[in-house]
Amino acid sequence: MKLICVSNEEEMSLEASRLIAALVRIKPDAVLGLATGSTPLGTYEELVRMHGEENLDFSRVRTVNLDEYIGLDGNHPQSYRAFMNGYLFDRVNISPANTFVPNGMAEDLERECLEYDQLLEQLNFTDLQLLGIGSNGHIAFNEPDDYFTAHCHCVDLTHETIEANRRFFAEGEDVPTRAITMGMRGIMSSRRLLLLASGKKKAEAVAAACFGPVSPRVPGSIIQLHHEVTVIADLDALSKTGLFEEAD
Ligand code: GLP
Repeated sequence: MKLICVSNEEEMSLEASRLIAALVRIKPDAVLGLATGSTPLGTYEELVRMHGEENLDFSRVRTVNLDEYIGLDGNHPQSYRAFMNGYLFDRVNISPANTFVPNGMAEDLERECLEYDQLLEQLNFTDLQLLGIGSNGHIAFNEPDDYFTAHCHCVDLTHETIEANRRFFAEGEDVPTRAITMGMRGIMSSRRLLLLASGKKKAEAVAAACFGPVSPRVPGSIIQLHHEVTVIADLDALSKTGLFEEAD
């Protein structure tokens, strides 16, 4: 595991966008595994800037997102499809046909999961998978469980995750309780994992995921088994790792 320690969220975003941009320049038809949540927002902002000012070209890039809420249409402002369109896809020269997000409104959700896994196989998985981490250690929507789930699947979100995501929804609006998520096979089959974390509220999850035992109780801990993983985290997010304790 390569750990890049930065001083704040802004630096995290700059480092992450540089890595992603370098990949896109080296491999213009790269398959990017993308994530939602507040963590990658600055990264997407910087990629948009690079597209506008430095000719970063997305015309041949394909993207596969990690997850989507069940029951939200892609036009719903809190759907992950709308998030990706608004923060990245509509602002760069990517072809909409090359962007994939699970369909949370699919009539046959089991089929949707199966087809999402087939899509990943057809794309030969991703060149890079961007990941955030939930405060309970989840990656994508793989929640803490007794076992790791390999395939794309539907999941009941934990109370903690529902509450954490409530901030994105209007007051009184129902927060979805279920989601479709890429499974661990899809994530771990990526050629490179890039996990981002900032802020004190991620400190326990980061310590457990990066340095604790590999366990489905901390889904993010599975990244320790990947051969090419980069973690970019700020000092607050690393504050429970014990890496920066003052010597006596
Ligand atoms: C959601 C997403 C995850 C994301 C997590 C953390 O649950 N499904 O992919 O990593 O939230 O979100 P945030 O970056 O807003 O803290």
